[in-house]
Amino acid sequence: MVSEKIFADNVKETENGPSGSGIANGEEAAIAAPLATIAAPGLFSLSARTIIVTGAARGLGLTIAHALVESGSDVVCLDILPAPVEPQWSQVVQSANQRGLKLTYSHLNVTDASQVTSAFESAFASARPSHPVRGLLHCAGIQLLKDALEVEPEKFRQVIDVNLTGSFLVSQAFAREWLSKNPSANGSAGGNGASIVLIGSMSGHIANFGLENAVYNASKAGVNQLVRNLAYEWSRRGLRINSISPGYIRTAMTAALFDERPYLPELWTKASLLGRLSTPDEFRGPAIYLLSDASSFMTGADMLVDGGHTAH
Ligand SMILES: NC(=O)c1ccc[n+]([C@@H]2O[C@H](COP(=O)([O-])OP(=O)(O)OC[C@H]3O[C@@H](n4cnc5c(N)ncnc54)[C@H](O)[C@@H]3O)[C@@H](O)[C@H]2O)c1
Repeated sequence: MVSEKIFADNVKETENGPSGSGIANGEEAAIAAPLATIAAPGLFSLSARTIIVTGAARGLGLTIAHALVESGSDVVCLDILPAPVEPQWSQVVQSANQRGLKLTYSHLNVTDASQVTSAFESAFASARPSHPVRGLLHCAGIQLLKDALEVEPEKFRQVIDVNLTGSFLVSQAFAREWLSKNPSANGSAGGNGASIVLIGSMSGHIANFGLENAVYNASKAGVNQLVRNLAYEWSRRGLRINSISPGYIRTAMTAALFDERPYLPELWTKASLLGRLSTPDEFRGPAIYLLSDASSFMTGADMLVDGGHTAH
């Protein structure tokens, strides 16, 4: 009863405006909730901005790059492969052309710090003034399936280098560019802040039944921790950072595993609460959410999108 009374008093005070504040209710609402004037679908818009996508030559990165174009963003695609896969790439080009958006594809090895620096300098410098860079989606990654007793030190370092060091280098390069161009940004909602999304994995949270992939899982757990620390350093300066931890997705990465171990799809399907594996298109929503103003109060967090695999 006491708590109900306190709640009722608070409601009353809010309705009338805090005594002596001199702020009318309308003004107070505008200060307190700058996103409230945007109709809900507009919260998910990515228009008037540029988003950088790594690992964009195929799989998750290319599928989400297409979704970002459909959401109104110019997109800078980066990947170690010399060219993105067809026919998907041509479809993204067509979508961008139809909407008058800018879409580029360039080579980048995310483990090479000087390449990363120049790729991000160039992405920020060549963004259209009407479409400043405001987002990074980092999908580049590699898998290693090997008994831990057999893993050579070079292989261990390679996976950590691509998955964890690469995540750090692209986040750092993005933050250096964005923070230097937006020195007075802060953590308020509704401004022109930026959002970094790193692709982790549910494998950063668990040991996978049927897979010997200690190195990969350690690298992805590192991505989750990186997000928390970088959020601590950058969020009050207007730069949010979160991760998505997908469950099993049918892409070239898992196709290679299924070639080697044909029993895996059935094993993993049994462990999914939804009774199936996922496809890359199912990660468009989570990525758009985290890159847009819809997630304005979310930073330093990991979004598990795993069909319930880790819920039991
Ligand atoms: N497929 C899954 O089941 C699954 C599950 C959880 C997380 N993930 C993660 O999702 C992300 C995308 O995976 P995917 O399934 O689309 O795999 P994918 O192999 O199809 O795509 C990965 C992309 O990263 C690129 N890449 C690799 N090394 C690079 C480097 N050094 N520099 C730049 N680009 C590089 C590859 O060329 C490729 O285009 C990865 O981080 C992966 O770990 C995948």
